[in-house]
Formats: sequence, structure tokens, C-alpha cells
Amino acid sequence: MRQVAFFGDQKRNQNRVTVFDTTLRDGEQTPGVSFTRDEKISIAHQLSDIGVHVIEAGFPASSADEKGFVKDIVSEGLESIICGLARATQSDIEACADCGVDMIHVFIPTSEVQRVHTIKKTHEEVISITESMIRFARSHADQVMFSAMDATRTGITELTEAYRTAVNAGATIINVPDTVGVASPSSMRALVSSLHETIACPIDVHCHNDFGMAVANTVSAVEAGASQVQVTVNGIGERAGNADIAQTVMALESIYGIRTGISTERLVETSRMVSRFSGISVGPTQPVVGDNAFAHESGIHSQGVLSEASTFEPGIMTPEMVGHRRRLRLGKHVGRHAVAQMLSDAHIIAKESELDEIVVRVKDISNRGRKVTENDLFEIAETIIGEAGIEKTVILHDITIINGNHVMATATVRASVEGKETTCCRIGNGPVDAAMKAVVGIVPEQLTLKEFSVSAISGGSDAIGHVSIAVEDSKGRVYDAGASSDDIVLASAEAMINALNLVYRLKKEE
Ligand code: KIV
Ligand code: ZN
Repeated sequence: MRQVAFFGDQKRNQNRVTVFDTTLRDGEQTPGVSFTRDEKISIAHQLSDIGVHVIEAGFPASSADEKGFVKDIVSEGLESIICGLARATQSDIEACADCGVDMIHVFIPTSEVQRVHTIKKTHEEVISITESMIRFARSHADQVMFSAMDATRTGITELTEAYRTAVNAGATIINVPDTVGVASPSSMRALVSSLHETIACPIDVHCHNDFGMAVANTVSAVEAGASQVQVTVNGIGERAGNADIAQTVMALESIYGIRTGISTERLVETSRMVSRFSGISVGPTQPVVGDNAFAHESGIHSQGVLSEASTFEPGIMTPEMVGHRRRLRLGKHVGRHAVAQMLSDAHIIAKESELDEIVVRVKDISNRGRKVTENDLFEIAETIIGEAGIEKTVILHDITIINGNHVMATATVRASVEGKETTCCRIGNGPVDAAMKAVVGIVPEQLTLKEFSVSAISGGSDAIGHVSIAVEDSKGRVYDAGASSDDIVLASAEAMINALNLVYRLKKEE
């Protein structure tokens, strides 16, 4: 068996907490989420690369496929400790052992409600099963985690007895699951303090987010002596999910000064990977990794951060620390400073009076309910300043779409890029997708479509539609653009052309 240094051997170390990630197990229990084998392998690599201490790779007894996936992850030879989940039964434990995992995570319900209604066992029976199954698991793995499921709804006497039994039988770490997310920071602190005083074993916590307190409860457990935290990427998991890795790690690192060993600057990239594979998008206001986590629109805030970022950001957590970008957004709250900065980034110099006029126009568009993109800003600036035309690097000549109920949507685009004529043909999931892919295909840059929305400007079946998009380059810079047309496919293609021109424009000015 592979030997891996185990931090949990020290009962508690104020300066270091290890991270146990269960994205591939509890995270995959999110309704509607199912990772492919390749996605699981990629996620496991990413987690290991960013410094996750333990990866819960899956629940091998749940299916033959799942067992195969866990085996495959073990055979990748990652730096992280690989753990498999098992009910407190011989066959589940053997399924984990067959996969060659470094750690077996054995769980059994201990609360009365779960004992009576799920496994139909008395407390005494639970204690006896815990004793024998932890011994059995230890005969198969050097590292065994014991979880008293629904710990936060279990009487403290019964709970302490279950943990003591597990530790005496050889458990190397105990996990305190807040299975239905009912703990509060103070109840979690009291529970973990009590266990920390009475049980001679490292403590790990697993908090669900039913009341939105998973991260707060996890951090409270650490304050009370827990040395390991269970998290998932983007907080996915059963019902309202689990404690989010980015929020938990950043709270520990930045607020408490506790090291986790995680390469925090890769948190956004990790979040995006799991969002893509899980199909669960991250809301703009999600802490740390959401699009708006470091975005500013209002005049007061934008002016503040332009002068000193910590005026309206935590300061102890910067966008660079988590792999994010600070963004000034255009909207009805925008102020002159932000507009001036965005123009000057593109080397457009406006006089005071011109700037006032540009700001009025931006607010006006926004007040009519439309998103204002950087592309719109430059066009407004061009109109007001009367510059000799903002040079277009990418010019669309024509676009041909073939679509129907028995043909794959295909788009062919002819355009010139920096004066050179180029053609690109792509298939897609529908005409819009094909058109966007064909347009992106005419430039060498790797660009990813991050946002796409359509709104009708007028009514009827010939309504003018406005397409707003955001694309991201390989360095994580996001470009907003849009276009309007009575043909939604054309509006999408033109919005993408506008985005490409922005990319070239801002690249040239760098
Ligand atoms: O929420 C829970 O109790 C679990 C256990 C398997 C630890 O996921
Ligand atoms: Zn759980």
C-alpha cells in the first residue's frame, strides 16, 4: 500500500488544516449530475494538482462502473490520498479494498431518526457494528475514517460512545457530518470542542448547506479543534450541497491565517472545470469564484477600487489570489472614473465634456433595460468624440447556414482578419451554435463563450432581437459584446465579430 504522509496524525495544528474533497462522491450525488470517466479523472488530477490532501473518489459498492472509476483514479498515482466510501458492511469495505484506495471511509447512522427509519438498528447494535467493521476496515487499509452519520442530531452520550468505539477499533480519523445541515456555528463549535476534549483522534467535518451555513459551520469546527475539512467544488452535493472548497479555503487562509496547502490561485479554474462537467453554472454572486466576486459597477465603488482596491474589496483576498480578475462593469450605476479608465485602457482619450456625454448615453441605454458592453462603449465614444473610425480588424463578409430537421446545423463564415481573407466551416447544436463556432474559428485565439442571452427589442415574429455575449480568452480576460438584428443567427454572429474586434483592439493597446 502506498504510504502518504498524513497530517491528521497530529491532533491539531493551528497553522494547518487539510482539505478532503468529496466532489466525486457527495458532489456527484447532486440531482442530475453524472461525471463521465474522463471527467472524473480530469477532476481528480486537478484536485491533486491544487494540493487537496484527500480525494473521496467514489462509493465503490454502489455499482460495478463506480468501482471501476475508483480503481482508475487510484491507478493514476496522484499525490493526494485516495479514499473510498463504504457503509459499515463487509462487502462495501471489500469493494473499497479491491480498488486499492489509501483510505476507507466507513459510515453508519447514529441519530435515532436515521437508526430507526433507515437501518432499523438499536444504538447497541450500531456500536457493535462500528466495532467490528472498523476493525475489518483496518485489516484492509492503514487509514480509516469513521463517520457517525447525522452526528449533529445524535445525543452527545451516544455519539461520544460511537466515536470512542471506532477509535479503539483502529479508526485513524473521525468525521462529524452535519448530514441535513441543521448545525449553527455555535452548536458546531460546542460539539467539536466536546469531542476534541474527549476523543484522542484527529477530527474532520462534513457540513451540508441546507440553511446556507455549511462554510460557517466548517470554519467553526476548525476553531474548535477540527484539523480537516470536507468540501466540494462549487459546493455541489446532496440537496443544497456541501461546504464550498473556494469559500472554505479562502475563509481559513485569509480570515483565520490558517494554511490549507491549496494553490488558491487555481480556485477559479477548478470551479470552471467542475461547472462545465457538472452542467451546474456558478451564479454571478457566488463568493470567491462568481463573475461578480470582484466586479464593480457603481460610481462610488469603481472610483474607490481604482484608487485603492481594498476600499470596496476584502483586501485580504484579492482577485489574483484566487485566479480571478477585477472587472469594471458598465450599467446604470456607472461613474465617470470607471468609464474614463475603460476608455483609457483602449487608448481613447475623451475631453471632460465628451466624457460626461458618454456617461449619460451609457446610463440611458442601461435605463432602457439593455446590458451595455465595452463594444457599445467604444461605439458611443466614437460617435461622440468623432474619432476617425475605430478600426475593425475582423470584418464579416458573409455567413451561410444550412439547417433542418434532418441535417446537422452547419455554418460557413467568410471574413477578413487583419486584412487576410479567411473561411471557416463548423457544425453545431443548432444554427446559433454553428454560427458562433464558425466565427470563433476564423481567429487563432482560444476563446470560450461564457454568457449568451437574447432579448427582444420589438414585438412580433419579425421582432428585432438583441444578443449579448461574454467571451473569455486563455488568460481569463472577459470581453462583453452584443449586436441586434431581426435574424437571431446573424445577431449572434455579429455579436461574436464585435467581441473579436474587442479582443484585437485591447490586445493591440496592451
Ligand atoms: O452527509 C453525510 O452524512 C454523508 C456521509 C456519508 C458522511 O455524506
Ligand atoms: Zn454528505
